[in-house]
Amino acid sequence: MEWIILPSILVGLMLIITTILIVIEKLMGGDKEKVIHINDDTTIPVHGNDTLLNALANEKIFVPSACGGKATCGFCKVRLLDDDSTLKPTEEAFVSPEEAAQGVHLSCQIKTYDQMKIVLPKGLLTAKEYQTKITHVEDLTYDIKLVRFHLIDPETIDFKPGQYVQIKVPGIEIIRAYSIASDPKDKNNIELLIRYVPNGQATTFVHKALEEGDKITITGPYGDFFLREDSKRDMICIAGGSGKAPIRSILAKLKDEGMPRKVKYFFGARSKRDLYYTEEFEQLAKTYPNFEYIPALSEPKPEDNWTGETGLITDVVDRHTKDLTEAEGYLCGSPGMIDACIRILSKHAMKDENMLFDKF
Ligand SMILES: Cc1cc2nc3c(=O)[nH]c(=O)nc-3n(C[C@H](O)[C@H](O)[C@H](O)COP(=O)(O)OP(=O)(O)OC[C@H]3O[C@@H](n4cnc5c(N)ncnc54)[C@H](O)[C@@H]3O)c2cc1C
Ligand code: FES
Repeated sequence: MEWIILPSILVGLMLIITTILIVIEKLMGGDKEKVIHINDDTTIPVHGNDTLLNALANEKIFVPSACGGKATCGFCKVRLLDDDSTLKPTEEAFVSPEEAAQGVHLSCQIKTYDQMKIVLPKGLLTAKEYQTKITHVEDLTYDIKLVRFHLIDPETIDFKPGQYVQIKVPGIEIIRAYSIASDPKDKNNIELLIRYVPNGQATTFVHKALEEGDKITITGPYGDFFLREDSKRDMICIAGGSGKAPIRSILAKLKDEGMPRKVKYFFGARSKRDLYYTEEFEQLAKTYPNFEYIPALSEPKPEDNWTGETGLITDVVDRHTKDLTEAEGYLCGSPGMIDACIRILSKHAMKDENMLFDKF
């Protein structure tokens, strides 16, 4: 008899505890429907005690996030209005005191509450989730792959040249950002240039496992680094490594328009094996006198037989540049490279507000 009574008592106890927990949550307003106001013109419902990042994602509003909510990427910043909370220790590495004073938080680190008011960049409200199929994977160098994604649902995407998407790595469900490298006029496909990072989770998947035919979920487009289409200024583009991706998309757009602006494009690489798309850009330079392509090697090997520019990309830019008071800069590469290039462009009088960059 005991073998029946004991389990029954245990099940009964668990039911009572669960009921008590549900009642407590209800009393605390945990499952009460709450609303969040976004930018004064959008209201979304939220349920339960989820983080703001997840609550927005449930409503298909995808705030950039590269760490999936672990407070290690710092991408998911959102500004709260009427905020009087202090930063959590996990937020302090990413949110400056000035930002905190304006109500900025990591959306993965704060819980939703009723009548929460937040400010989001308008672009985030238009970012969508896409189901895609990989239709092409190609080695561009020993460590950079071109990957083409065909959009299945929805079938088309509108993005500004320079913007990025986020890919969800299947199986491990991590999310990583990649700049779109293709022509924005092709709305059914996007291309990414993905550089292998040793032991990197997403890039190991892309370089060792991803195959044509695979289905991948992406979200986007995101980002403020994009071609200012209403500007007629001369342009200086500077890229290193996979930083070529957004510049390629920007140049594709300008090419579609007959290259109406004067563009000098500097690409920094270590040796010849790090160069790619050289013929594509040399051909563009032959076709359009307005466009100049200047690849430079910092450590050319004897067997490279390199006759082009050598040295650090900053020195090459310095040598080829005069007054930049009226010019616009588009910079993409490692944080160290971008910071050094900003100093050179400032030295040539480029205005801060005319310098656009993405560091990765
Ligand atoms: C807006 C934006 C656009 C981006 N666009 C591109 C793009 O077009 N192409 C591209 O290849 N990458 C791009 N990145 C970088 C990309 O999002 C990933 O960070 C990168 O691919 C590494 O991911 P992972 O999962 O393989 O490495 P992780 O598993 O995240 O990292 C593994 C280790 O490598 C280190 N690490 C991470 N990234 C780098 C790096 N770039 N160089 C050296 N060490 C690193 C980490 O600190 C960690 O120790 C972009 C990033 C941002 C924010
Ligand atoms: S999602 Fe990475 S810090 Fe919030």
